[in-house]
Amino acid sequence: MSLHITDLEFARFQRFIYDAAGITMSPGKKALISGRLSKRLHAHDLQDFSSYYQLLASGEAEEEVQIAIDLLTTNETYFFREPKHFELLGRLAGQARQQRQPLRAWSAARSSGEEAYSMAMVLADCMEQGMWEVIGSDISSRVLQRARIGHYPLERARQIPPAYLKRWCLRGMGEQEGTLLIERELRQQVRFLSVNLNERLPHMGQFDVIFLRNVMIYFNAQTKRQVVARLLSALKPGGYFCIGHSETLNDISTAVETVAPSIYRKPEERR
Ligand SMILES: C[S@@+](CC[C@H](N)C(=O)[O-])C[C@H]1O[C@@H](n2cnc3c(N)ncnc32)[C@H](O)[C@@H]1O
Repeated sequence: MSLHITDLEFARFQRFIYDAAGITMSPGKKALISGRLSKRLHAHDLQDFSSYYQLLASGEAEEEVQIAIDLLTTNETYFFREPKHFELLGRLAGQARQQRQPLRAWSAARSSGEEAYSMAMVLADCMEQGMWEVIGSDISSRVLQRARIGHYPLERARQIPPAYLKRWCLRGMGEQEGTLLIERELRQQVRFLSVNLNERLPHMGQFDVIFLRNVMIYFNAQTKRQVVARLLSALKPGGYFCIGHSETLNDISTAVETVAPSIYRKPEERR
C-alpha cells in the first residue's frame, strides 16, 4: 500500500534523483514516487518519507541509495527497439569487415541488456569474433544483474529476426516456458558495466557507434548538454551517435552532423 507523501518530501526526492542521476521528475510523478518507495519505508519500519530521506542522506546507507535509484528509474526496453539504428549498425559492420577494421559499440543506457544484445547479434552476424566489441552500461544495479544473466520474457523478443532467434536464443521449456536465454557464446562477448552518465566517465576507450536512446527524456536541457558532450568525447571522429526517435539534439549539441532523424555523425578530423 502506498503511503502519503507531502509536497516538501516529494521535493526532497526530486532533488535526490536529480543529484544522483540527473533525472528531472515532474510534479505529476508524485504518486509514482510514493508508490515505488513505500515498500522501502515498510522494509525499514519507517513511518514517513522524511525519515526515509534522512536515511538516504545520512551517508551511511550506500546500498539503500542504490535501491532508491533503481526504484526511481524507468527501465522499459525490448530487443531491436527502433530497428533503423540496427540497420545502420549492420551497414557499418559490413564496411568494417570489408576494410578489415574492428568495431566498438556502446549501449550507454542499456537498461536490462536487450539493446546491447541486439547490437551484439548484428555484429556477430557480420563480423569475425574478436573484431567487434559491445559494452552495455547503466546506472541501475538491478538491471545490471538481469543483463549479465541474459534471461528474458519472450514478449520482449518479438522483434528479434527469426534467424538470430534460432542462432543466439534458447527457448525456455517446462518451468522456463515463455522465456528465452541468450546463448553463452554471445553473452560472453558483451561487457556490462555500471556507469552514471551524469558523472565523469570511466576510461572505456573510443567507440565507433554509441546508442544513447530513451534516457535523455528524463534529463533537463543542461543535463542533456553535459551528458551528450561527455559521450561525444568517447566517440571516434567519423563515428555514429543514435538517440531515441522521440529525442533530438537540437539546442543540445552542434558537435555532430545530422545524418537522419535520431542519427548523428561526428565529423572526421581535418588534416
Ligand atoms: C527507458 S530505459 C532505455 C533503455 C534502452 N536504451 C532503450 O532505448 O530501450 C532508460 C535507462 O536509462 C537509465 N538511466 C537513467 N539515468 C541514468 C544515468 N544518469 N546514467 C546511466 N543510466 C541512466 C535507467 O536506469 C534506464 O535503464
